[in-house]
Amino acid sequence: MNVPYLMEDSREAGRLAAKVDADAWVREYLAQVMPPGTPHVLDVGAGPGHIAQAVHRARPGARIVAFDGNPDRLAAGSAGPGGAALVRHCGDARHLPFDDGTFDIVYSRLMLQYVAERDRAVAEMARVTRPGGTVVLFDLDGQLVWHDPLTPELRAVLDPVVAALGATGFDPHTGRGLYRLARTAGLTDLTVRVDPYHLIAGAVNPVEREQWHLKLDIARPAITRALGSPGAADTAIQLCLDHLDNEETLTYSVAFTVTGRKQLPQTGGSVVSPPRHQHSE
Ligand SMILES: C[S@@+](CC[C@H](N)C(=O)[O-])C[C@H]1O[C@@H](n2cnc3c(N)ncnc32)[C@H](O)[C@@H]1O
Repeated sequence: MNVPYLMEDSREAGRLAAKVDADAWVREYLAQVMPPGTPHVLDVGAGPGHIAQAVHRARPGARIVAFDGNPDRLAAGSAGPGGAALVRHCGDARHLPFDDGTFDIVYSRLMLQYVAERDRAVAEMARVTRPGGTVVLFDLDGQLVWHDPLTPELRAVLDPVVAALGATGFDPHTGRGLYRLARTAGLTDLTVRVDPYHLIAGAVNPVEREQWHLKLDIARPAITRALGSPGAADTAIQLCLDHLDNEETLTYSVAFTVTGRKQLPQTGGSVVSPPRHQHSE
């Protein structure tokens, strides 16, 4: 059984892999926190496993599990170079089928924004991380909703679409909540980083335009449900593309990265104190 995901479509695996330089992402966001040696790594919401494969290229000895709610999407990456090096596991991030403390490093990239019970998923990620291990949460803030100018016409389609997607669990402001989620899950030594993610000032370039076209087309069934008719969805998608094509407009979102450590076990009061020296003078 597939875990519900609003971008469900056979083209989604290819879309996800095409829109990121996975090696560069691993160098930028994971390499510094990856422990030395041959770490046990879990990618939660891995899609076809393109990021996990880049982890394998960066650390050929690492044992890497790519975990996702859709078996077909997971399998789609298995034929590519390095695809066979991963263990692929299908299931729901809110109930990870791994023992406590299994992994040295657990990360999730662009999944939490789609998950209704984000707190549960992050608690599970912390649970399966070994004490002293690292959790990395990477997600967006402002995707779909930050545009200038936000014309009444654009707002009239975005408001109902965002409200309807909210009912599926999607939250375009997930990024800013990652710090709170990490704290609630008991992670410590938190660091927070914010980077531009989408940034389209003036007319979008042809490659990005094609990516947005595909993304909106994959989201078309959800947009149709939100707006009530295929015609209304067509108009909304065209309005978004016109905005992106317009020399005078700007669209942006940011990516938050929150990194935290799973606490080492407390010694429960049996803290070893330094010896007290008695002086008799
Ligand atoms: C936007 S994609 C991100 C894929 C990949 N991490 C990347 O950065 O390109 C989100 C992925 O999360 C998966 N997903 C969504 N909800 C999930 C859940 N509750 N449990 C497991 N996977 C889930 C989807 O199937 C999808 O492949």
